[in-house]
Amino acid sequence: MLISVLGTGYLGATHAACLAASGHDVIGVDRDPGRLAVLRSGRAPFHEAGLDELVRDGVASGRLRFTDDPADVADAEVHFLCVGTPQADDGDGADLSALWSAADALAPYLDDRALVVGKSTVPVGTAARLRDRLGARVAWNPEFLREGRAVRDTLSPDRLVLGVESDDDHRTLLLVYADLVAAGVPVIRTDLPTAELAKVSANAMLAARISTVNLLAEVCEASGADVGDLTTILGADPRIGRDFLAPGLGYGGGCLPKDTRAFVARARELGVVESAGLFDAVDRVNLRQRSRTVELARSLLPGGTGTVAVLGGAFKAESDDVRDSPALDVAVRLHRAGAAVRLHDPYAGANVRRERPELTVVDDVASACRGADLVLVLTEWPQFAALDPHEVGELVSRRTVLDARLVLDPEKWVGAGWDFRALGRSA
Ligand code: UDX
Repeated sequence: MLISVLGTGYLGATHAACLAASGHDVIGVDRDPGRLAVLRSGRAPFHEAGLDELVRDGVASGRLRFTDDPADVADAEVHFLCVGTPQADDGDGADLSALWSAADALAPYLDDRALVVGKSTVPVGTAARLRDRLGARVAWNPEFLREGRAVRDTLSPDRLVLGVESDDDHRTLLLVYADLVAAGVPVIRTDLPTAELAKVSANAMLAARISTVNLLAEVCEASGADVGDLTTILGADPRIGRDFLAPGLGYGGGCLPKDTRAFVARARELGVVESAGLFDAVDRVNLRQRSRTVELARSLLPGGTGTVAVLGGAFKAESDDVRDSPALDVAVRLHRAGAAVRLHDPYAGANVRRERPELTVVDDVASACRGADLVLVLTEWPQFAALDPHEVGELVSRRTVLDARLVLDPEKWVGAGWDFRALGRSA
């Protein structure tokens, strides 16, 4: 099947490459010439496990092509909308301008055969507006991929959500995903609004879970209880489950924060005002982890300032993404408060340099830690968890460490003579 994918960011590039890998002919459309050049050369435009190989193979086989001209996709049977829907500048709602402009650019090339499938995360009700605006067949097929696992999540998702308005559109999507259906991935057929809501609801629930565990961690810190044991106990309850129970600096990234806010904004538009306040609290608790970390870090520095080795810039491990990164936020605030910050991240260094040129970014842990008054772990990279506290201790001027992601082994660090602090653990 000939398929177009509009937007080649994390979602679109991964989706296009995975569709090509499953045997479809795919044309990715984007306005960004730099990104198109990288993709055409057979490489992924960002760090994502396994994506380089898929893009390389797709481009080499001719099944995966890229263009900036929507006219080139006029013959496609299915058009996936994968453009970004960031938080609007003037509030908590989603900015849908990229979605409307991609749809309008596509409109002249649509006919009765074509099915437009939204994958972008949108406020509930957008799909129906899109259908009316285009006068075309529209379906909604949200993705739940996680950065760093995007290829795996796309090739073997937990579920396929197909929001459709006809049996024909359902059949078309089953053909697109024939490989996944054959592999037994559960398919949930539903209507357009439910499919749209599926994505923001999942993200809102995940956000609430993280803020809940962070509230519990703060109580542990104040009471001397052990947050590690507590989450093990909670996770053993099958109704709660083990995943997504890691306390620490809280959630960030290009999805969870803005999707949760957009969900609340849309709920209020729909008249669900009182209950939506639940998620205001979720957001507040999340942002509080960042201020708590800054305060704690400053309290551990002689005179509230000094040299800080910041380990981590990405919003989470296995990603080079720094969008709404809690780590970057904390690093910038410490820098503004007068600390000499030296930041290292295994993959996100280039993005940190681009986004925050005021910060000093170094290429390895040793350069960050040499002469530091405080070592601050802000992203849960396994490389940081594996650090040898004796070796790091030889580099620093004071053996003080603050683990804001709870990845270090306290006994090892205390045993090596460190003043060890962690969010969620009492001093
Ligand atoms: C998320 C959703 O998981 C995914 O389904 C959706 O499609 C997009 O948004 P992603 O942004 O890649 O994916 O990151 P995720 O792995 O969900 O982590 C989000 C944030 O929460 C990160 O900052 C992470 O460090 C933090 N987190 C995650 C915690 O603080 N504790 C946890 O237990 C899990």
